[in-house]
Amino acid sequence: MSNEEKRTLTFEILRYNPQIKGDTPKMKKYEVVEAPGMTVFIVLNEIREEHDPSLQFDFVCRAGICGSCGMIINGEPKLACRTLTDTYPKGIITLLPLPVFELIGDLSVNTGKVMRQMSERVESWIHDKDAENVDLTRIEERMEPEVAEEIYELERCVECGLCLAACATKRMRDDFLGAVGFMRLARYAIDPRDKRSGKEFYDIIGDDDGVFGCMTLLGCEDYCPKDLPHQTQIAYLRRKMALGK
Ligand code: FES
Repeated sequence: MSNEEKRTLTFEILRYNPQIKGDTPKMKKYEVVEAPGMTVFIVLNEIREEHDPSLQFDFVCRAGICGSCGMIINGEPKLACRTLTDTYPKGIITLLPLPVFELIGDLSVNTGKVMRQMSERVESWIHDKDAENVDLTRIEERMEPEVAEEIYELERCVECGLCLAACATKRMRDDFLGAVGFMRLARYAIDPRDKRSGKEFYDIIGDDDGVFGCMTLLGCEDYCPKDLPHQTQIAYLRRKMALGK
């Protein structure tokens, strides 16, 4: 691609640092020359290196694995490292931080705090009633390969928070657990080693802040970067709650 053929992209990015007294949110424009295979993540690094070192955004892996780089890209929650600039033919791209989460600054939000609250709320560990009598020398319990596969599928969640940012209920009700929590609980509900009763699961998600608050708009399913089966798991949990087992 010759230099004349290269597009100049315009990025409009929300700039706001709540740590700076008196700072107010504003949109700032940056121009970047597109390169082949360019992602929004590459653009952000270029802006930080060549235009403004104070730009805040999160990343770790650059490969869609750590879930850190979620943001609103032209109105949709996406991972910056998995979003190619050439999917935007007009070359104008707006970047906003994910809603629902506490803003750290610019495009950086605190997803860790919400994910930790979620883990504590669903008690994200195997509940074995005989836990006090654990024998560490015992051979690991056998699990059917199909069940292990099913659990593995649900554990692919990277806790990026896009499902919460895409969720209309979560936007209206802060206490709504949301798809990431349902996915986590479903993982334990199908695990035969977890001995929680139907009532115990019901006590966690059997109300409007739990699985019955979902309006079934399924933004979670549409925007999950790992294509996790949110719709199926929400239906599974609802049925489990209704049947009480
Ligand atoms: S940087 Fe890890 S998912 Fe994008």
